[in-house]
Amino acid sequence: MAVTTRERYEELIRDLEKHDYKYYVLAQPEISDEHYDELYRELLDIEKQHPNWVTSSSPSKRVGGRPAEGFVTVRHTRPMMSLANTYSFAEVQEFEERVRRELGLEKVHYTCEPKLDGVAVTLHYKQGRFHLGVTRGDGRQGDDITANLRTVRGIPLEVRDGPGVQQDFEVRGEVVMNRKDFVELSEKREEQGQTPFANPRNATAGSLKLLNPQEVRKRKLRLWVYELLIEGDWVGDRQDERLVALEKMHFPVVQPWTVAETVHEIDAFWSGLAAERSEFPHDMDGVVVKVADRRMREELGTTAKTPRWAMAYKFRAQKATTLLREITHQVGRTGAVTPVAELEPVQLAGSTIKRATLHNEEEIQRLGIGPNIQVVLEKAGDVIPKVTGRAPGEPKGVYEPPHSCPECGEPLLKPEGEVIRRCINVACPAMLRGRLKHFVSRGAMDIDGVGAMTVDLLVDHKLVEDPGDLYFITYEQAANLPGFAEVSARKLVQGIEASKDAGLERLIFALGVRYVGSGVARVLARKFGHLDELADAIIKPKLLQTLVADDLSSTEQGRAAMEELTKIDEIGPRIAESLVEFFSRPRNLTVIEKLRKAGVNFGKRHGDAGEKGPSAPLAGTRIVLTGSLDSMSRQEATERLEALGANVTSSVSSRTDYVVAGEAAGAKLTKAQKLDVKILREPAFLDKLSEWESAGKA
Ligand code: IVH
Repeated sequence: MAVTTRERYEELIRDLEKHDYKYYVLAQPEISDEHYDELYRELLDIEKQHPNWVTSSSPSKRVGGRPAEGFVTVRHTRPMMSLANTYSFAEVQEFEERVRRELGLEKVHYTCEPKLDGVAVTLHYKQGRFHLGVTRGDGRQGDDITANLRTVRGIPLEVRDGPGVQQDFEVRGEVVMNRKDFVELSEKREEQGQTPFANPRNATAGSLKLLNPQEVRKRKLRLWVYELLIEGDWVGDRQDERLVALEKMHFPVVQPWTVAETVHEIDAFWSGLAAERSEFPHDMDGVVVKVADRRMREELGTTAKTPRWAMAYKFRAQKATTLLREITHQVGRTGAVTPVAELEPVQLAGSTIKRATLHNEEEIQRLGIGPNIQVVLEKAGDVIPKVTGRAPGEPKGVYEPPHSCPECGEPLLKPEGEVIRRCINVACPAMLRGRLKHFVSRGAMDIDGVGAMTVDLLVDHKLVEDPGDLYFITYEQAANLPGFAEVSARKLVQGIEASKDAGLERLIFALGVRYVGSGVARVLARKFGHLDELADAIIKPKLLQTLVADDLSSTEQGRAAMEELTKIDEIGPRIAESLVEFFSRPRNLTVIEKLRKAGVNFGKRHGDAGEKGPSAPLAGTRIVLTGSLDSMSRQEATERLEALGANVTSSVSSRTDYVVAGEAAGAKLTKAQKLDVKILREPAFLDKLSEWESAGKA
């Protein structure tokens, strides 16, 4: 029998939920990411056709809430307490004896759970649906971070199995960031000149405070729950029964957990977990020992801050002392230079440590370390060892940060207010691969037949030293590359040839100027129309020899150029400074000259539709799009408006002519109202658009 669209829709929701559960809770994915994406797209398609079917529990609604303007304080139903903790077995013994003594029992059941090192939150469910998520805050009240928590995959938006279906309840747990995701985030932040977070816990806390759920989603947070709070008696009274109930309800329950009856069983669990903890994807810093039975918990009561029925038995951070031989510097893909401690090899928690990242020079100053100093290394929950300070009695070290690139010798740049020095020489070998990969990528020159692997080959075979060289690769050279047959060699050469007419916008983006993303590239392309015009606006030829990287922005010409650039809508001082720096480097100019010689089009695409001169219907009109439109994507709206000559910009000012406000429009709409800018809701916008488009054709 044929399946109706409605049935298919319900099935897709169940399937996506099931695959989220398998992936995020059980860590046993059943299907590939591509397959998942296919199902998800099918769901979105149906939802587009039938918007009235969509409920807040749809997998598509994990990010939807409008960006919060700030967090609202919510009082906890019951306080969120902290735990008494200890590193000593003797104190665990004392705790266990006291519990039995006070309860007057010979034997008490405890649960032992990992103590996750993250951020505690509580989630409220009404009739089985997630409707409120709150941070621990001061224990009595916290912030409403519902929209951010919805983005955490693995949190059921609606309970469809187990005893919690249609019930009101609260679950408490810990939000964590996996170490792998933390390392990725740190690298990204370092590349962007932002201070990296000190550890996954701080990164988690920082992420949960972001005001834009879209951004939170990118942080890939995870939740593990450990307490179920209910009214009534629809689950048992013991902690182990409740953990099982939570598992049945498809919550991600802290793993592994066990029931212990003696202090020796507690200790055995603790030792086992201590030995295995580096195999978990996230940090854990001990074991939480909890009296299992609710009535016993009540009888034991609490102190002002901690329950008397639980205790954290913490793992000791492992430490070692060794000689810091020297500090070397690594150049990353975007030229970010990271100091690295080269250590006298030392054993720590079962592995030999020779190197450790030092993040940035502020960190080095803070630790007071330098070459030839004995330093302390620590490996806490995390696998990544850290230099945490000087060994006792060691004098303060001396560290001189590098001024030129350790790879290519070009002067390094350290923008004010940033902690990272970076190399901005496009031809720097360390950055070459990364830059080339960016240059050929889909958003940039979109060179068919040249992917990441080809780039590596080209670099390894010394066929390219900068993006300009790509255009001088011959068919013979390509055909001689290992694994390259006639067809692939031809495809490569043709792909490169075809990219010459990618157009100015792509070209500017492809150059990889810091902070110049595709949006800024479009603004610059439209403003200048030709790469030479842009370059001329920044550098007057006679300056070339005198400009050196140091403090360019303080030279008179540099400042003048920045001032001109910042007059353009959407170009702030940070972008302007970066552009000035880029175009003042002779080596970058060399690359540009190669591209010119190769015949790369520095102007508009030849294939582009007719000039959008001042006579276009919307020439000179500034339009801002905000919120989402039902009838078309933002991309489409932008393209259609731009085709009419409009300037589609991202920020509302008094010079904005129209704000097109779709669903869930937020701050921009408010600003438009304040500034009395004309607002077009979707129906009015569609009318206007067809009016303008027919005027354009006339
Ligand atoms: S139970 C009153 N269980 O540790 C009981 N807490 O120091 C406290 N934590 O704020 C909550 N793993 O953030 C509990 N398995 C676990 C835990 C855990 C980590 C955190 C939680 C709490 C802090 C208390």
